[in-house]
Amino acid sequence: MAQHKNNTLYLVANWKMNPTTYKQAESLAQKTVHGIGGGAQDTIFDSRINVVICPPFPYVSIVSDVSKDVDVGAQNCFYEDAGAYTGEVSSRMLKSMGCSYCIVGHSERRAMGETNGMVNKKVLALLQEGMRPIIAVGEHTRKADNGTVMVDPMIKRQITDALAGVNERQAKRVIIAYEPVWAIGTGQSADPDDILTVRIFIQKTLHTLYGQAGIAIPILYGGSTDSNNAVVLLKNTGMRGLLVGGASVKEDAKEFIAMYATIQQELL
Ligand code: PGA
Repeated sequence: MAQHKNNTLYLVANWKMNPTTYKQAESLAQKTVHGIGGGAQDTIFDSRINVVICPPFPYVSIVSDVSKDVDVGAQNCFYEDAGAYTGEVSSRMLKSMGCSYCIVGHSERRAMGETNGMVNKKVLALLQEGMRPIIAVGEHTRKADNGTVMVDPMIKRQITDALAGVNERQAKRVIIAYEPVWAIGTGQSADPDDILTVRIFIQKTLHTLYGQAGIAIPILYGGSTDSNNAVVLLKNTGMRGLLVGGASVKEDAKEFIAMYATIQQELL
C-alpha cells in the first residue's frame, strides 16, 4: 500500500469494464497518475488524498507498475483461496498482484446475483489477506416524506450482513461506499442533505457494531460524481471520499484529474 500519512480523503476510481484494450488501459493509467502528480516528472502526490484505482482484473498489474503512489484495487473477488472455481479470482491472487483494496457488493454485481452472504464471505477473505474491502451499499429508489429522505432499512441489513464475523480490529480496515442505485451512471447524483442523513444512519449502524472504532470507519459516496459536484458532495456531508465510475475513465482521465484538483484546491 502506498504510504499515506494523515490521510483525510479517498478518491477511488472504479473503471468498471473499461477501457477496451490493454494499450488503452496503459495509457489511461499513465495519464491518470501523471495528471494527479501535476504533470511533473517526479510525481508529487498530496498525502491528504488517497487515490485508489480499481481496473478490470487483466489490467491490475498495469496500474501497480505505473506508480507506487496510487493504490490498486479490484472490483470483485472470490472467497475461496484456490481450487476448482473456473473463472474466479481469489483475494490472495489479487494481493500477490499488488492490490490492497477490493470493491465488494457493487450494485452491478448484486444485480448479477451477489447476495449479502456472498459479500460477507468476500469481506472476510479480503481481511484475512490484510486487504481493505470497500463495501458498496445503497437503496434502489429514493423515498421521501415531504421532501425529507427516508433512509431505506435495507442499507442497515447490507452493512450488518457484510460485517458478520468481522472483529473490531479488522473493522479498522473496512470502507463503506454509499451508492444509491438510482444515482449510478444516471447523471443524477444524490442531494447533499440526503447524503448527510444517510451518512449519519450508516455511522450509527457502525457505532452499534463497533463503538468508537465504528465511527472511524470511512464512508464514501458514489453515484454520478464529477468535477462539478465533487466538492459539494463532500463539503457538508461528512463523507470521507468518492467512488467514481464514469468520470474516472472519461476523456483520458481529464475529468478524474479535475476532481482531484478541485478537491485539493477547494476542500483541503
Ligand atoms: P458512476 O458510477 O460514477 O458512473 O455513477 C459509480 C459506481 O458505480 O461506482
